[in-house]
Amino acid sequence: MKVTISVIKADIGGYPGHETVHPDVVKVVREYLAEAKKKGMLIDFFVGWCGDDINLIMTHAKGVDNKEIHKLAWDAFVAGTVVAKKLKLYGAGQDLLKDAFSGNVRGMGPGVAELEFEERGSEPVLVFMMDKTDPGAFNLPVYRMFADPFNTPGLVIDPAMAGGFSFEVFDTIEGRKITFKTPEEMYAMLAFVGSRSRYVIKRVFPGPNNKVSEKEAICCVSTDKLSQVAGTYVGKDDPVGIVRCQSGLPSVGEALEPFSFPHLVSGWMRGSHQGPLMPCSMEQAIPTRLDGPPRVVCLGFQLANGTLVGPVDIFKDVSYDYTRAKANKVAEYMRRHGPFEPHRLPEEDLEYTNLPKLQERFKSRFSKI
Ligand code: F6R
Ligand code: MG
Ligand code: MG
Repeated sequence: MKVTISVIKADIGGYPGHETVHPDVVKVVREYLAEAKKKGMLIDFFVGWCGDDINLIMTHAKGVDNKEIHKLAWDAFVAGTVVAKKLKLYGAGQDLLKDAFSGNVRGMGPGVAELEFEERGSEPVLVFMMDKTDPGAFNLPVYRMFADPFNTPGLVIDPAMAGGFSFEVFDTIEGRKITFKTPEEMYAMLAFVGSRSRYVIKRVFPGPNNKVSEKEAICCVSTDKLSQVAGTYVGKDDPVGIVRCQSGLPSVGEALEPFSFPHLVSGWMRGSHQGPLMPCSMEQAIPTRLDGPPRVVCLGFQLANGTLVGPVDIFKDVSYDYTRAKANKVAEYMRRHGPFEPHRLPEEDLEYTNLPKLQERFKSRFSKI
């Protein structure tokens, strides 16, 4: 059976400020999707959240980029926004950047990651949801899951993985894409995806001789850049990602292992700082220290003919306590830099800045050296 998993997310209002979602808003969104499930539009759904972002995890049989599914998500967010506005939540409706739905939520504010595939005999799926960061935050962990033998023992000892994996990489500045095959082109790919503010891993495909077809994407990350839609800073892009696991793909544990290292990502306060990515449960995903540090939540499901069995709130596990402690140490260390790089992002990556205005104001005071 062919099934599609669509994860569509938006920040439609936080409280207090940009910290977390309000239960009344989640309730309305959930009711909206339940109605759609009753009508047969969805096979199943789960409404998750991370920080101030609501994540609609939906399964259906309509394929990726489906107009009805995207409209459903848009309308659910619009319904949630009505409640958010009533409660005067902060930034109510902030990610709904257009007045009316125009066929696909892409380019309208919400972030989207979708996979369509033939459901296997057993289909474990992980959904990652991040807050206070951007799509480039997925580059390091996704690279490690699928290409780093020090992370993923299966690359060395599972014959089904011997053919490696292919990575589709988006150049978010020039709007072009390229596919790299690993392990052959690993060094070249790293030269690009190491620049995570520009090159982002969009999808991953199995290499030859895997049990899953080379044509079927097994990982997808939302790469939507709000600032490019709105033309100005309107919040970070707080990405989501979907990863299929096991039987020739990274096991659940291999897909989670990269998150045991709280790597530095862009985002945090005003989307303008580097900070450690802290794995945590949905309950713990309330970024308060200087609106951070950035968070990642992972929900694990088994699919049963499209039904979402789960979720397991993965990073609840005490084995991430060490990572969280380390993330807090790194957060403390980075904070001591105040407005200095590398805590503050370099000028070209600043999404929220009055630097151009200051440059204009002080222009006449500069003289040649
Ligand atoms: C970062 C984020 C927050 C806000 C900050 C200022 O993604 O959402 O750190 O940037 O709270 O918010 P405004 O400008 O809305 O007062
Ligand atoms: Mg917000
Ligand atoms: Mg957010």
